[in-house]
Amino acid sequence: MKTLISGGTVITAIDTVPADVLIDGEIVIAIGEPGSHEWAEEADKIIDATGKYVVPGGIDVHTHMELPFGGTVASDTFESGTRAAAWGGTTTIVDFAVQVKGESLIGGFDAWMAKAEGNCAIDFGFHMIAGDINEQSLADMDVLIERGCTSFKLFMAYPGVFYSDDGEILRAMQKAAETGSLIMMHAENGMAIDVLREQALERGETGPVSHGLTRPPLTESEATHRAIVLAEIAGAPLYVVHMSAKEALAEIIEARDRGLPVFAETCPQYLFLSHEEHVDVPGFEGAKYVASTPLRKRAEGHQDALWMGLATNDLQVVSTDHCPFCIGEHPLLGIQKKLGLSDFTAIPNGIPGVEDRYQLIYHGGVVEGRIDLNRWIDLCATSPAKLFGMYPKKGTIAVGSDADIVVFDPDVEWTMSVTQHHMDVDYSAYEGKDVRGRVETVLLRGKVIVHDRQYLGKKSDGEYLPRELMSVRH
Ligand code: URP
Ligand code: ZN
Ligand code: ZN
Repeated sequence: MKTLISGGTVITAIDTVPADVLIDGEIVIAIGEPGSHEWAEEADKIIDATGKYVVPGGIDVHTHMELPFGGTVASDTFESGTRAAAWGGTTTIVDFAVQVKGESLIGGFDAWMAKAEGNCAIDFGFHMIAGDINEQSLADMDVLIERGCTSFKLFMAYPGVFYSDDGEILRAMQKAAETGSLIMMHAENGMAIDVLREQALERGETGPVSHGLTRPPLTESEATHRAIVLAEIAGAPLYVVHMSAKEALAEIIEARDRGLPVFAETCPQYLFLSHEEHVDVPGFEGAKYVASTPLRKRAEGHQDALWMGLATNDLQVVSTDHCPFCIGEHPLLGIQKKLGLSDFTAIPNGIPGVEDRYQLIYHGGVVEGRIDLNRWIDLCATSPAKLFGMYPKKGTIAVGSDADIVVFDPDVEWTMSVTQHHMDVDYSAYEGKDVRGRVETVLLRGKVIVHDRQYLGKKSDGEYLPRELMSVRH
């Protein structure tokens, strides 16, 4: 089965060229001058991309489908969440399997595989949250790397839950250095945050606004600094997740300027939203935006600093940290954010966004002039693929690559809303936001799964993607 995407402008992390793309089965087999009659004749299907951008399927390397958290479970299943991702032009996710204290790394991986396999609309891989670093866990890292899980997330936050102390972190980093795998760090000083939370509650400060106020930027930058130092001691690369504070970014910049293999991501919520506009608001509305790291104060310049970091490659990736919890009642899961109605420390942490990212970064980045088209693709597809061992199978449009392709209309204007999205959550973090640019057609390994505002795929289209080790050093 041959498919021709004709008449569009192909955009990769380095090129912007008018070109036709010929696909055979699941793979791109040729990219060439527009209008070849021979290609049109041999194609079984032609997708007209005239006036549109033809871009690689998005890669979101930070999602939490069905994550158990704070007495509930993230409301998107692998089925609903990956379908929503497809609607937004994302064709691969890397989700986080979880090892809980007292259980094995491999058991956690198998449990997450059982949830995802056969249920995903797009391709999926796993990082492993190592919640209990011990001799066995370190040995099990070898087994998981063999199975294509080549990155491990550690937490400097959430004492008593996922938290690892500095010694445990150093051991895991030494193992990563030995194996060539990648440590991803949730960099917040959880011990200090716990003291600030306790003190806020003692003062009777129980509302959502206290979530961010008890996680000030210094708790993020101190932990980021410490993570960098530990990685340097171990001789390991480091990837810091969901960065929101400009002070933490400064630590990344300093480390990279010293030549260290230190990388970081941010997420749309930290670029577009703020503490003042979304969290420090009357009533319980702010709970929609409770996440860790927290949204930061616009007056302090964090959002502008992060955009600049993306433009200058001090930040390499935009992921979503998609972790949805309903503000009202979920039909199956009951109340979620409202578990913390009288105590902000009980609000489940997370913000939805897996469907929003590619389009939002086009709007806020390209349309509003902060980054160019190629950087948009780099941040949302190519760099994530390289850092997490998926390139060049994923993350670009090239001969031999998987035909994960999005036809993107750069001119459509529309308004983001819960009524428009497909995520299984009862609010949009970007309700009422007017944006330009929308996903029109999505191909997953050559199969059209979204076209003209219709979902054409099925829940088992997505396959497990075993990943290689990272393929960039800087
Ligand atoms: O608030 C967040 N980020 N929830 C998901 C868990 C995590 O730390 O990434
Ligand atoms: Zn985290
Ligand atoms: Zn996360």
